[in-house]
Amino acid sequence: ISRTLQNNLIVPSWNPFCNIIKEIFEAVRPLSDGDVATYIPQLARQNPDSWGVSICTVDGQRVNFGDTKNPFCIQSVSKAFNYAIAASDLGADFVHHFVGQEPSGRLFNEICLDSKNRPHNPMVNSGAIIVSSLIQSKMNMADRFDYMLSQYRKISGGEYVGFNNAVFLSERLTADRNYALAYYMKENKCFPPEVTSMTDALDFYFQLCSLEGTCESMSVMAATLANGGVCPLTEERCIESRPCRDVLSLMYSCGMYDYSGQFSFHVGLPAKSGVSGVMIVVVPNLMGICLWSPPLDKLGNSCRGVAFCKELISRFNFHNY
Ligand code: DON
Repeated sequence: ISRTLQNNLIVPSWNPFCNIIKEIFEAVRPLSDGDVATYIPQLARQNPDSWGVSICTVDGQRVNFGDTKNPFCIQSVSKAFNYAIAASDLGADFVHHFVGQEPSGRLFNEICLDSKNRPHNPMVNSGAIIVSSLIQSKMNMADRFDYMLSQYRKISGGEYVGFNNAVFLSERLTADRNYALAYYMKENKCFPPEVTSMTDALDFYFQLCSLEGTCESMSVMAATLANGGVCPLTEERCIESRPCRDVLSLMYSCGMYDYSGQFSFHVGLPAKSGVSGVMIVVVPNLMGICLWSPPLDKLGNSCRGVAFCKELISRFNFHNY
């Protein structure tokens, strides 16, 4: 309120801005491309017409269009926050002893390591399994889960973060590739010595993929990244500034699966997508955006989400370059 009265808002022409966002939201809605993920029934049952856009600025201005209160599992978007939390707790150097920073040039779930015997980056499954295994590794599983829930809730400024147990159980049932990845990495001594149970490591990874958010809560989480790790709603520091910078760099180069190079070229913003059709996009020092629409393109990114970003960049000067 005080910023409004002082005419000191980060987006001063808020209503014209919101009108353009609404136009883009409506223009993208009729797209009928893509298919909803079917590898687990909980995702296969998602409504292909669901479409939500939420924005939260670094000074807490908000706008929401469409299905922005519907909960969805955050899937691979968790990889970005897990990395940021691990690096805030343990330091980037420690984390990068176990995981690289290089785009793999391979599928997100491929069985491969870099020349230093590490997963290529924290955004592929192998890297995310390693990163989550580092988090609070001395705690028991229940306390580790509670710890992450509380961290996520801080980053979302107390807005909705839930857990979908059916998704967790389904993920665990259909996880042959992730088991193969974990045991391959165990054989190659990729984990720190205290990580001995691959079932615990994988359960924790699946639990984090099964956390739920809404477009509204995830836009606040993205805005925390836009704001250097300080939640714009509570002004609490949740992520240290170096890991915040680092996670944005990794999202920029590796956040959109095998479309990451094209996305950074065309859109020029750090983003992370997940198989539920969620995408977070960060405009550093300005805003966090969450897009959710379940139909995915051949590379696994939300069709409406990617189309929205391309149109956004054609209307606003947000591309990094
Ligand atoms: O590990 C899996 O197969 C999924 N739960 C990951 C989901 C996802 O969004 C794909 N990620 N890179």
